[in-house]
Amino acid sequence: MNMYVGRIDTTFASLEWAMAELINHPDEMPRLQEEIRAAVRDDDHIIEDHLNKLHYLKLVIKETLRLHPPVPLVPRETVEDAELLGYHVPARTRILVNVWAIGREPTTWERAEEFLPERFAEDVDMDQYMLGQDFTLLPFGAGRRGCPGAGFAMASVELVLANLLYHFNWSLPGGASMVNMDEQGGLAVRLKKTLHLVAMPWCSKTTHACSGQRPQQNSGPSLGPQRAGVPQDVLRLRCWLHSIFS
Ligand code: HEM
Repeated sequence: MNMYVGRIDTTFASLEWAMAELINHPDEMPRLQEEIRAAVRDDDHIIEDHLNKLHYLKLVIKETLRLHPPVPLVPRETVEDAELLGYHVPARTRILVNVWAIGREPTTWERAEEFLPERFAEDVDMDQYMLGQDFTLLPFGAGRRGCPGAGFAMASVELVLANLLYHFNWSLPGGASMVNMDEQGGLAVRLKKTLHLVAMPWCSKTTHACSGQRPQQNSGPSLGPQRAGVPQDVLRLRCWLHSIFS
């Protein structure tokens, strides 16, 4: 049961934080969309093979996990007495490792409070999200009790985020420009206020519904006589449906 609940909440929280950060950083969102749309080209939907080409997507997810680890406190129990920074810590002391604070530690991370995916650009192994080895970043904990679902979770986040950003352009409703990043605790730490966004369907096929031009014969969804007077958004949505059902 823990595994079932833990995997959904944490994965969902990561996605929500990533979208919120991308909305709050209007330069990052189009940059990532450009990468995804260039990699997918006319395939029209994303498969796992595309993920290997999405370098910047991995940087964005890593930076999201640094600032917003869904599990901010990881529990442990000490096995032997220790002296630490002048304190005596007896064996069998319950401790909570503050993963959130480690990710924002200003002597480790330059401009620690800022969302800067580029900081991970030099990482040697981009698929490596189990970042616990040097204890500077621990979104999945570390050691033998570290999260066994990290690989699965990150593949899911990559795939869903890439799909959301490939198929839609996103904005806040009502002309708002910033998401309030207040946190709320729970099984996983999430945004305090649910993230509501406007999704504008996007399609790579410039020859038919997406561009608002008449579809060429056999080159896309036949929208028939109902095209006249149908709003652009609806046409784009149909175009997107065409891509996901094809
Ligand atoms: C973004 C998504 C996820 C995050 C951030 C995350 C994070 C964590 C963290 C911090 C721990 C504690 C590790 C430690 O004590 O060192 C943990 C444990 C665990 N996670 Fe995840 N997790 C995620 C997704 C998943 C998924 C998808 C699964 C299963 C498919 C999963 C299964 C587990 C299990 C079974 C444990 C307990 C391991 C143990 O106690 O030995 N997690 N996770």
